Amino acid sequence: MFGKRGGTSVAPRIDPQPSPAPAARPAATPASPVAPVRFEPGTQLSATTTTVSSPPIAPAAPPPPVMGGHRSESFYETKGQIFGALIEAIDLSQLAKLEPMAAREEIRDIVNEIISIKNLVMSIAEQEELLEDICNDVLGYGPLEPLLARDDIADIMVNGAGTVYIEVEGKIQKTGIRFRDNQQLANICQRIVSQIGRRVDESSPICDARLPDGSRVNVIVPPLAIDGPALTIRKFKKDKLTLEQLVKFGSITPHGAEVLKVIGRCRVNTLISGGTGSGKTTLLNCLTNFIDHDERVITCEDAAELQLQQPHVVRLETRPPNLEGEGQVTMRDLVRNCLRMRPERIIVGEVRGPEAFDLLQAMNTGHDGSMGTLHANSPREALSRLESMITMGGFQLPSRTIREMIVASIDVIIQAARLRDGSRRITHITEVMGMEGDVIITQDLFVYDLLGEDANGKLMGRHRSTGIGQPRFWDRAKYYGEEARLAAALDAAEAPDPHARG
Ligand SMILES: Nc1ncnc2c1ncn2[C@@H]1O[C@H](COP(=O)(O)OP(=O)(O)O)[C@@H](O)[C@H]1O
Ligand SMILES: [Mg+2]
Repeated sequence: MFGKRGGTSVAPRIDPQPSPAPAARPAATPASPVAPVRFEPGTQLSATTTTVSSPPIAPAAPPPPVMGGHRSESFYETKGQIFGALIEAIDLSQLAKLEPMAAREEIRDIVNEIISIKNLVMSIAEQEELLEDICNDVLGYGPLEPLLARDDIADIMVNGAGTVYIEVEGKIQKTGIRFRDNQQLANICQRIVSQIGRRVDESSPICDARLPDGSRVNVIVPPLAIDGPALTIRKFKKDKLTLEQLVKFGSITPHGAEVLKVIGRCRVNTLISGGTGSGKTTLLNCLTNFIDHDERVITCEDAAELQLQQPHVVRLETRPPNLEGEGQVTMRDLVRNCLRMRPERIIVGEVRGPEAFDLLQAMNTGHDGSMGTLHANSPREALSRLESMITMGGFQLPSRTIREMIVASIDVIIQAARLRDGSRRITHITEVMGMEGDVIITQDLFVYDLLGEDANGKLMGRHRSTGIGQPRFWDRAKYYGEEARLAAALDAAEAPDPHARG
């Protein structure tokens, strides 16, 4: 159902359980027709599913409201009953460890049993539909499943049970998908975060997590989210866009792309700046494609998104604190540790705090070609953000010293932007030149000018080279034998670009 990314550092601990399958069978007790079987009370999942999940005792379940579609209220009522009994009968955390097919069979057996014990009258088709629904709820992400299965969706935004938006091709649109009620949505949020051993409820209402396929998830629940749980998913793209595709989309010109290839290969220290969803990570991933295969690269990310093709890569990932608030490993911890791992390049997925200092130090001490992304709306803003990250990180350094450090470390800033028509453009390739007095001097190599809007609301603009013939990284390019490619790209870009488009 989801990608097959291997186990991660944040995966929940697997407790030794000889064989969960037989234990998941219901056993008869007087309390309920299908008795609870809890064989692993220690796990967070089993502990928390019951707190947030559906009403444990089926008969007490309030009849869920009908949410459009062809389904009758009685369908939901029956499902509520069966679901409640099922949750009582099995340990969901164990079920989740089974192969999807085996888990399905397990659920099928138990559901059939519940149906016969409770004397529910259903057609085969109804039973199948119910089973599908229950499997989606128990094993997957309920109504989110069809959206998660689509590769063209970049983001899924759930604003309470009744409202789900998606982003497709840079545009946000509303979907007809709904959850039965906020309780079902809360259950699914809980399912997601329990995979990394977290809990999300009134007492800890904010949580970052991710799906097994690498998609990044944020959950915020009431009382902080006023109209019901808000769930935001940045979907993991299995096939990351390539530089060629970015050229095809008009995000950058072919000549601009050539310059980026030189920057990626020639160990130019690079910052990629841009707003949320502007394409920073995509661009970083593209740049890493041009790293030589004999370099030792270490990546540090909050949630592993980069897909480096090189053989010699170590991937590191931060870890949020656990339920007891312990065990957190920050980006700064990773970057600092990285320095002891003999990296040749360090790639930081997103620089947002004091790790900025360590990354600059790394860039400055022989780890040329290190890269990172950062949230800012222009290259200038990227520089000041970097400075304030260091200041706020508690480093008692005069601002001039910090700027000198930035100048000595960062060579190039690439600015990505998501324009209001949903298109993404690389708007600047900018060099950091040096200091004049207390001010950092930059020089644009490539810029994107907005020219206007066409009849369909599509923005028109063009990329142009600023006419710089020899950027500061010229000598590096020469060292790597790339100066001809760089010169050709810069020269050609100076002529009016035939590929420029609106
Ligand atoms: N140049 C582009 N053209 C079209 N889509 C893009 C482009 N760059 C990125 N995307 C898509 O936009 C979404 C967000 O990209 P991402 O790189 O994760 O953004 P960021 O890291 O800035 O938040 C992804 O789905 C990605 O595939
Ligand atoms: Mg990103």
